[in-house]
Amino acid sequence: MQHFTLVDHPLVQHKLTKMREKSCSTAVFRQLLREISHLLAYEVTRDLPMTTTSIETPMEAMEAPVLEGKKLALISILRAGNGLLDGVLELIPSARVGFVGLYRDEATLQPVQYYFKVPKEMDERVVIAVDPMLATGNSSVAAIDLLKESGAKDIRFMCLLAAPEGVARMKEAHPDVPIISASLDRQLSDIGYILPGLGDAGDRMFGTK
Ligand code: URA
Repeated sequence: MQHFTLVDHPLVQHKLTKMREKSCSTAVFRQLLREISHLLAYEVTRDLPMTTTSIETPMEAMEAPVLEGKKLALISILRAGNGLLDGVLELIPSARVGFVGLYRDEATLQPVQYYFKVPKEMDERVVIAVDPMLATGNSSVAAIDLLKESGAKDIRFMCLLAAPEGVARMKEAHPDVPIISASLDRQLSDIGYILPGLGDAGDRMFGTK
C-alpha cells in the first residue's frame, strides 16, 4: 500500500461536502460519518489476505474466496475515533477493539495520554487505527508509538481529513504506516485546525459545542 491513499470516490466526496457545511446537524453529521466509514473501511481492508474454501452452490461445488482470517484490531483514538469505529465494526463485526485516549494540550498542541487498552497479541494482528482528523500529526504519531510499543507491526491509519503537515509528520515518524483518507486539505490554521476542514470533529459528532 502507498503511504497516502486518497479515497476520491464520488459518494465519499459528496457525503464529506455535506459534513463540512456548518449548517449540517449533529444527527446528519453522525449518519454521514457512519456511511463514509464503510467506504473507507472497504479501501483500508483491500489487501487483506485471502484463501479459498470448498462450498456447494445449488448448481455445483466450487472453491470460493474467503478472508484468510488474520486477526484484526480496530483502535479508536478517543474521542472522535469512535465516530469512525462504529461504521468499521459493522463491516468487520468480529474484529477486536482497543482505545487510545489522548487529548490535545491547546497551549502546546502536544498529545497527553489518559487511557490505553488494546487487545492481546497485537503483534499477530492487522491493526486499523481510526481518527477522523490528521491535523498536526502529534496525536496520531503518539498513538502509533503506543501501538508499536504494544507489539503491533502491521498498522494502517484511517481518517476523514488530513492536513499536509500531519501527513508529512506521520511519514517522517512512521513511514511503514499507510494512511487512508477521504481528503487532503490545504493547511493547518495557526491553532492547529485543518483548513478548510470541518471544525472540531468531536464537537460536531457529539454535539458538545
Ligand atoms: N481536530 C479536529 O477535530 N479538527 C481539526 O481541524 C483539527 C484537529
